Amino acid sequence: MRKLKLVNGTVFYHGRFQNLDLTIDKGRIVRLDPSSLSGSSVSPISPVSNENNEIVMDCSHLHIFPGFVDLHVHFREPGFSYKETIETGSRAAAHGGYTVCCTMPNLKPVPDTLENLEVQRAIIRDKAVVHVLPYGAITCGEKGAKLANFEELAPYVVAFTDDGVGVADEGRMREAMVKAKALAKAIVAHAEEIALVNGGVIHDGTYAVRHHHKGNPSASEWKQVERDIALAEETGARYHICHISTKESVALLREAQKKGLPVTGETGPHYLTMTDEDLREDGRFRMNPPIRSGADREALREALIDGTLLAVATDHAPHSAEEKARGLDKSLNGIVGLETAFPVLYTQLVLTGILSLEQLVEAMSTRPMASFRLPEVKEAKASLGIPYGIDVNEPADLGIWDLNAAYTIDPETFLSMGHATPFAGWTVRGVCLNTLVGGESAYEDPAWKERYCD
Ligand code: DOR
Repeated sequence: MRKLKLVNGTVFYHGRFQNLDLTIDKGRIVRLDPSSLSGSSVSPISPVSNENNEIVMDCSHLHIFPGFVDLHVHFREPGFSYKETIETGSRAAAHGGYTVCCTMPNLKPVPDTLENLEVQRAIIRDKAVVHVLPYGAITCGEKGAKLANFEELAPYVVAFTDDGVGVADEGRMREAMVKAKALAKAIVAHAEEIALVNGGVIHDGTYAVRHHHKGNPSASEWKQVERDIALAEETGARYHICHISTKESVALLREAQKKGLPVTGETGPHYLTMTDEDLREDGRFRMNPPIRSGADREALREALIDGTLLAVATDHAPHSAEEKARGLDKSLNGIVGLETAFPVLYTQLVLTGILSLEQLVEAMSTRPMASFRLPEVKEAKASLGIPYGIDVNEPADLGIWDLNAAYTIDPETFLSMGHATPFAGWTVRGVCLNTLVGGESAYEDPAWKERYCD
C-alpha cells in the first residue's frame, strides 16, 4: 500500500478548520503539515506520484472531517436481513461519511448473552466496511423481565440498551443501572412509557387533530426520562437518552447536568429540522418517537448549540418497501438516516447560521466518540480523556467532502436497503467523495474514483 498524501484540504484539526497536508501510511496519519501547495501545480483531475512514490491528491476546495460516529443504528442482522444487512448498512454509513456505527439490539437472537452476541460479531468481522460496535440488551429478549448477562457481555459491547422499547419496570431499571455502573458501562435508554402512548402514532399535536390520527403525547417520553434521571442520581450510573424528541426531556437533561450527573443525550436530524406540521400521509414520516412541535424543535436546537445534547444520532431504522407502504397509521416505525444526516444538517443548520460547522462535526464525531470511550477504535486516548479526531498517529478514519456540491435527495441512490426518508426531494449541499477507514476507501464517489484512480 503506497503512501497517500491529501494536500490543500480544509482539515478539522484540534477543534478548528485549517489548511493542512495530510500524509497517510499503513492506515495511519503520519504527518500533518501546513499546506504547501497553494497555487498548486497538482492537477485536480489526476493523482500524481511524487518523488517519494506517494499518491498525491489535491483536496483544494474540499473539507476533511474525522469519520462520523453514529451512536444509534439498526443494521437488522442477525434476524431481519430482508430489511438491511451489516454489509449494506455499513456501506450506507460509509456513503454518509461515517466510520463508526453502534448497532441496536432489537435483533434475532437478541444479544443478551455472549453466545447470542457472537452471531452478530461473526457477521461484523466478515462483512462490515466501517467499525460496527454492538450494544448489548438490558433484559433477556428485550422483554423487560430478567436482566441480560451483563458480566459476560460487558467487555464486548458499547453499552446496554433495550432500544425499540422502554424498560417499564422501575425496579428492573434500577437493578440494570447498579450492574452497569459496577461494570463501568452506560445505560442507553429508549425512554417510552407505553401506557402513555395510548396507541398514538404521531405527535399529539396540530397535525394529529387536523388529520384525525391518534396522538402520542410528549409525556410518554419525558415521564420515563424523569424516572430514569432520578435512578441515575440514586445509583450513580452513567445514563444516556436515545432519540430525544421533546422540550421537556431537554429541560430534564439540562437540569441533571447542572447537578453534575453523568447524564447525556442524543437527538436525530429529523427532530432538528422538521415539525409535526411537515408530516404527510406517508409511511416515510412515521418513526418512534414521532417528530414533534415547533417548540420542541427549537428546544432541541438550543440544546445542541449549548452542548446539553452530546450528539446527533440518526436512528437509522430500515424496513422493507412493503412495511413502509401502509401509510402513516399502519407503516412500521423507522426511517433511514445515514446517507442524509450530514447534508441535511449542514444545509438546514450550518448554511443558515444556526450552528457552526465545527459544532456540527463535533456532535457527529468527536463528542460521541470521546464520551462513550468507544473500544477497539480509540481506547488508549479516550481513557486519558483526549478527544478522538484527526491527528498524527491516529488511524486514518476520515471523510473527504465537497461542501459546494448541491443535489436533490433521491432514495434510489442510497446504498441502504431501506429507502423511507422524510427528506426525499430536499435540496441539500454536501457530497461525500471518499470515506477512509484505516486509510482504505470504504466509500468512493464514482466520479471521484474515475478522476483519481491509477
Ligand atoms: O422508529 C423507530 N424504529 N424507533 C425505534 O425505537 C425502533 C426503530 C426500529 O427498530 O425500527
